[in-house]
Amino acid sequence: MSIFKKIITFRPSFTVRILTGLISMLILLSVCTFIGLADQTRLNVRAAEFDARSIEAGAKVYFEQCARCHGVKGEGVEGLGPALASEQFVGRIELVRDGMQLQTVKVVKPSTRMEQIGWTGTLQDYILGVTASGIPVKTSNVWDVNHPTFSERFGGPLRDDQIRNVTNFIVNYGLNPLPDDQALLPPAPGEGMAPRPTPVPLTPQQEAGREVYLAKGCTACHAIRGVGAQGAIGPNLTRIGAVSEERIASDSYKTNLKDQPPATTGAEYIRQSILHPNAYVVAQCPQGPCPAGVMPQNYEQQLTPEELDNLVDYLNSLK
Ligand code: HEC
Ligand code: HEC
Repeated sequence: MSIFKKIITFRPSFTVRILTGLISMLILLSVCTFIGLADQTRLNVRAAEFDARSIEAGAKVYFEQCARCHGVKGEGVEGLGPALASEQFVGRIELVRDGMQLQTVKVVKPSTRMEQIGWTGTLQDYILGVTASGIPVKTSNVWDVNHPTFSERFGGPLRDDQIRNVTNFIVNYGLNPLPDDQALLPPAPGEGMAPRPTPVPLTPQQEAGREVYLAKGCTACHAIRGVGAQGAIGPNLTRIGAVSEERIASDSYKTNLKDQPPATTGAEYIRQSILHPNAYVVAQCPQGPCPAGVMPQNYEQQLTPEELDNLVDYLNSLK
């Protein structure tokens, strides 16, 4: 008798049949469970990827809308906005993966800023709220501006998903926050209402230089705290008198300067930046890497030597 025939004529007892049925069902069940679990992992991985996409999209919103007041690294800009990347603001977080590859955010150190202002909700909700509706009243004299309203629900430029994305981007600073001493921290509630110290008065030449700055279109691209429009295409010039010294001491300046002798003083650097904007292209602008060839290259023809001297003198006084 062939094996084949044996199989066909095999008639197991009732118990064996029940047992076989039970065992196959168990196998089927465990296969299903396994597939289900594997799928859950895939879903979790997908959620993490989605977060990464959201943070990336948020970075774009941040550079277009927030960096001019909060700084390209979230370090804050004098007079315009506090740090958002400081450890004080975002605290410290870690990403942990559990056995199922589920990525969760673990708060290692909570935001002390939330404690300071007595906010009992989450950091996310605070950022969402401030960004969406703005801050209609000035809470301190430290800032030149009121917080803009960003949600299109209140007449601003951003959709809900863009506000969520930029919030995720800011919360993500918590993975690697700026030490508080490298960030411009906001005053505590109730502080910062004192009148500002009287600024050092400008000399008549510097005053004339300020007029040149306002008249020659620099404000379209640059911002100086308290002066003219808040251009965000070129670097913020509020502290250019001090920044210029940092620039000439930097490796980036020494290696990237082209076609011009290196400036030896801050004033020379400022003059060079105005006359030959492409000789050295600054790395970071408020909306991301600085574009080369955007700053007009004909100021030598547009400005008289006296106007140029006064302009440089004025900018160099901003420390
Ligand atoms: C025109 C300048 C300006 C722009 C643009 C701006 N902010 Fe602000 N932001 C401020 C100022 C000023 C404050 C402090 C306001 C206050 O406390 O009165 C602030 C505060 C905040 C705070 C609260 C910080 C804290 O420590 O309490 C958050 C969050 C914030 N901004 C998010 C954003 C986001 C997100 C964007 C971009 C979508 C943005 N801001 C764009 C000026 C600005
Ligand atoms: C159309 C936009 C635009 C205009 C107008 C413009 N700039 Fe600029 N400026 C830029 C950009 C972009 C940069 C950064 C890229 C570079 O270094 O060339 C820059 C760089 C600078 C720097 C160097 C800043 C730094 O942090 O090192 C100075 C100083 C400066 N501009 C002054 C001026 C002055 C003064 C005027 C008006 C006479 C002016 N700019 C007009 C776009 C502009």
